[in-house]
Amino acid sequence: MIISGKEFKPIITEDQIKDRIEDLGKTISLDYKGFDLTIVAILNGSFIFAADLIRTLSVSCSITFVKFKSYEGISSTGKVNEILGIDDSLEGKNILILDDIIDTGLTINSLIEKISQDNPASIRVAALCFKPEVFKMNYPVDYLGFPIENKFIVGYGLDFDGVGRGLKSIYQLV
Ligand code: IMP
Ligand code: MG
Repeated sequence: MIISGKEFKPIITEDQIKDRIEDLGKTISLDYKGFDLTIVAILNGSFIFAADLIRTLSVSCSITFVKFKSYEGISSTGKVNEILGIDDSLEGKNILILDDIIDTGLTINSLIEKISQDNPASIRVAALCFKPEVFKMNYPVDYLGFPIENKFIVGYGLDFDGVGRGLKSIYQLV
């Protein structure tokens, strides 16, 4: 498939994504049983993952969105800009940070540092995809959908220069 003039091939199907998210939802619901959960999801990429995951959860949860940008084109700029922050205090809350993909890990690292200042009860991390070869940080990825190769991907919320987010499967740059 050609997206913005580049060739991509399918690597994770719609059904595989659905099954994996259902598994993650079950695990998260068990782990947080009896607790209130506050999801902090990172825009833009995580909006579809967040919408699908939240509907698999059986625990009471609220969700808020932050907006960060570190990627330009197909690579990380090494800097993380906050574009939209959190308006409520997260003090005493059980936070689950959600992103579409963890690459260098910088984006979530910035968010963890920021949220920690609010003294939450706990912070965990969930990501649909993860590139272990380029991860530079040392926080744990508590809930992980798919570990993938260090190649650019698109679809299911992830974009290539702004397009491709509505694709139901995940595609890799050839
Ligand atoms: P990190 O800060 O390097 O972990 O980058 C995380 C952000 O970069 C993600 O939230 C995505 O928006 C974007 N990103 C990283 N890898 C990819 C990719 O392969 N495709 C699309 N976006 C990506
Ligand atoms: Mg993102």
